[in-house]
Amino acid sequence: MKRSLFACGLALLAVMGVAGPGRAAAPAPVDWPTPADPATLPQGAWRDMVMYGQKLIVRTFSVLGPEVPDPAMRYAGNNLACQNCHLNGGTQRFGLPLIGVYGAFPAYMGREDEVRTLEDRINGCMERSMNGRALPADGKEMKAMLAYIQYVSTGIPVGKNIEGRGSAPLPLLKRAASPMRGATVYQKTCAVCHQPDGQGKRNGAKGDAGGYQFPPLWGPDSFNNGAGMHRLIAAATFVHANMPVGTTYTSPALTGDDAWDVAAYINAQPRPVRAHLERDYPNRSRKPVDAPFPPFADSFSLQQHRVGPFQPITDALRGKSPAP
Ligand code: HEC
Ligand code: HEC
Repeated sequence: MKRSLFACGLALLAVMGVAGPGRAAAPAPVDWPTPADPATLPQGAWRDMVMYGQKLIVRTFSVLGPEVPDPAMRYAGNNLACQNCHLNGGTQRFGLPLIGVYGAFPAYMGREDEVRTLEDRINGCMERSMNGRALPADGKEMKAMLAYIQYVSTGIPVGKNIEGRGSAPLPLLKRAASPMRGATVYQKTCAVCHQPDGQGKRNGAKGDAGGYQFPPLWGPDSFNNGAGMHRLIAAATFVHANMPVGTTYTSPALTGDDAWDVAAYINAQPRPVRAHLERDYPNRSRKPVDAPFPPFADSFSLQQHRVGPFQPITDALRGKSPAP
């Protein structure tokens, strides 16, 4: 748990006051909300559940990780935390926030070509980002995550796509991203925390379910190749807006070129492999241009889907220019 949840405890209450029950929802809450620390909620079952959900997001490895004592609870296949990507407990603007996400589901998901619930979406990250298995939809852990996501989404109207969701957009490169150039950026800018071999730095010792001070970016304890972060556009936009940690989208530390190249370098490294990725995006025309696995609706190379340039693929799919 980091600073922002504790920061301005009253901001959320102010928002709730405006949009409380019995009033017409005020359009356009403008300021990025800073949810109060759930510990300030009144004692009771709701507070307990929200706080358990917060723990599951912030310290996932300590409850659901592969090193917890009870084998039945080892749902995650790696020692990451949701918060490693959903920064500051999912409260950071353009740091893949969970704020506002409660009212964004159910939603159409191209990966399955169907309408999916928030439970399904959470399990998507369990199976890919966490390289594990799905949580039971009606179990305590899923309920707790939903409670926490609902809590941080309080005051955001259902169906309103909050500005600051995802990662801040970044102009596409005209050239292919270069993993080789990215290696130099990595050793200069990232290795100090994520380590020269990309395996991160643990909080404690292997086997103690203590997670990471600096999470691994590749290797056996990282996200698998079916994860969102393994798509170049997702990774480059995340890194540009948020890395090195402490960076925000308003003052990025990396140039756009450096972010694209370092993301391409990370995603060229070995990581756990997810079976049957060819079954993702059964409607091929809905497949993101940066999905780095076949088959594709177009005839661009796998390499171009991995590292770009992406604009020609987008143009061809929109019928603006011919595929090669
Ligand atoms: C390695 C990074 C990473 C980790 C760890 C991770 N996620 Fe995600 N998550 C992502 C990315 C990237 C996306 C957006 C994917 C996309 O563009 O489709 C995402 C999307 C989501 C969404 C949908 C957000 C939205 O705006 O629609 C939810 C909910 C979610 N994750 C929950 C979780 C939970 C819960 C955990 C822990 C159990 C978790 N994630 C762990 C990277 C991660
Ligand atoms: C000062 C230390 C530091 C530096 C330097 C740094 N990071 Fe991170 N990075 C972190 C921490 C800490 C997290 C996890 C955030 C959290 O849990 O709050 C993280 C998370 C990540 C993640 C998502 C989690 C995962 O395991 O994949 C990616 C991707 C990432 N960093 C890439 C980079 C890249 C690329 C660079 C260099 C441009 C970089 N980082 C530089 C500390 C750092």
